[in-house]
Amino acid sequence: MTPRTSFPPGFVWGAAASAYQTEGAVDRDGRGISIWDRFCAVPGRIKDGTTGAVACDFYHRYREDISLMQSLGLDAFRFSIGWPRVIPDGLGRVNARGLDFYDRLVDELLAVGVEPWVNLFHWDLPQPLQEAGGWPERATAEAFAAYAAVVGERLGDRVDHWITHNEPACPAWLGHGLGIHAPGHENLAEALAAAHHLLLSHGWAVGELRRCAPQAEVGIVVDSWPVYPWTESPADHAAARLVDGMTSRWFFDALFRGKYPADVLEQFEAVAPRIESDDLAVIATPLDFVGANNYSRRFVCANPGGGLPLDMRPPTGELTSMGWEIYPPGIREVLTRLHRDYGVETLYVSENGAAFSDVRTHDGAIHDADRIRYLESYLDEVAAALADGVPVRGYFVWSLLDNFEWAEGYSKRFGLVYVDYPTLERVPKDSFYWYRDLIARSRDAARAAA
Ligand code: FCB
Repeated sequence: MTPRTSFPPGFVWGAAASAYQTEGAVDRDGRGISIWDRFCAVPGRIKDGTTGAVACDFYHRYREDISLMQSLGLDAFRFSIGWPRVIPDGLGRVNARGLDFYDRLVDELLAVGVEPWVNLFHWDLPQPLQEAGGWPERATAEAFAAYAAVVGERLGDRVDHWITHNEPACPAWLGHGLGIHAPGHENLAEALAAAHHLLLSHGWAVGELRRCAPQAEVGIVVDSWPVYPWTESPADHAAARLVDGMTSRWFFDALFRGKYPADVLEQFEAVAPRIESDDLAVIATPLDFVGANNYSRRFVCANPGGGLPLDMRPPTGELTSMGWEIYPPGIREVLTRLHRDYGVETLYVSENGAAFSDVRTHDGAIHDADRIRYLESYLDEVAAALADGVPVRGYFVWSLLDNFEWAEGYSKRFGLVYVDYPTLERVPKDSFYWYRDLIARSRDAARAAA
């Protein structure tokens, strides 16, 4: 089966991954400690008690994984740089061996025609920066700009697509507001300050990357789950608007309109971050592209118990093993919104995918028909957005390999390739062959139409 609509010539087919979730080798070649190493060591933080210490051992097995990318026919691989591998203290001394790893990775990807899409931050902040206050401190944003320059100077001659941050809403809200991600804090003021400094660091990093790699395209990856009111009551509508404000509009308004949403600022007036006069202009530096990650949607109702005026409702409908509702139209809504409401002219789906409880059957294969169905239904909606004139230029599946799913540990498998963790053996699932065939067919169709 294929999605109903075809994709235009030049559409980028990719897969995405991140450093802490896949690399392992946390104590190799001078890597420093990240806030995720620390967080995982706290009993009860990770559901199955695991850590990213070994993960997929991508650090040592990346060549084998690049071969898998080649068999898929990927155009691009989106991965992140581990900041603590490159600058162990977060600031200052550069660890040459850490940088060498990414240098080799980039060269080997290029050698087989897979374009490296380099993301500077996928949540693994160096622990020493956390000890100095972490993202709620403005100095962390300054350290990030310096780190961007170090990586840009080394890889900027070969990397043509750069991403500053992955989903800044997550480290801000999950890490500092809800405490379910590192560093595990529950403090509204910290969450808002982190959100501001993550965005500010993005703006500064764009400048550094453009200086180091003038030929390159520079963007950011945002996550967005459409938010719906639980009932039609005005109170539920207001609650949904606030959640959308905190998770999407805070970021979109700042990045694409150079201001924070007034209703969110007003709601959190007492704990608002310190914003200096040029900050929003820096944050709103024009970008070459925007990546959107989408998996599901949320329902929200008013909180009768006081406190924050919102209450997240448990998902309904068909769920993945993350407990996330399968809601394909959401991806079209997000892409359309970014284009129509925020004027984004070059969009990529930078993550989309699903965890299901995959089993290796007696024939040794993994028949993940549910994942194929999920991906097909979302791709149909991406195609529908394209047909509506939304400028979507590519799609990155999350993820190439099963990997360390943050607070869920290894219990959730998102890969097109199954990882047998005790042996680290890689076994392509049925969805791997499905994606390979889809890419090949889409290329043939584009060629025939040319
Ligand atoms: C996204 C993250 C990614 C992965 C997927 C399932 O929010 O960017 O690292 O965990 O969710």
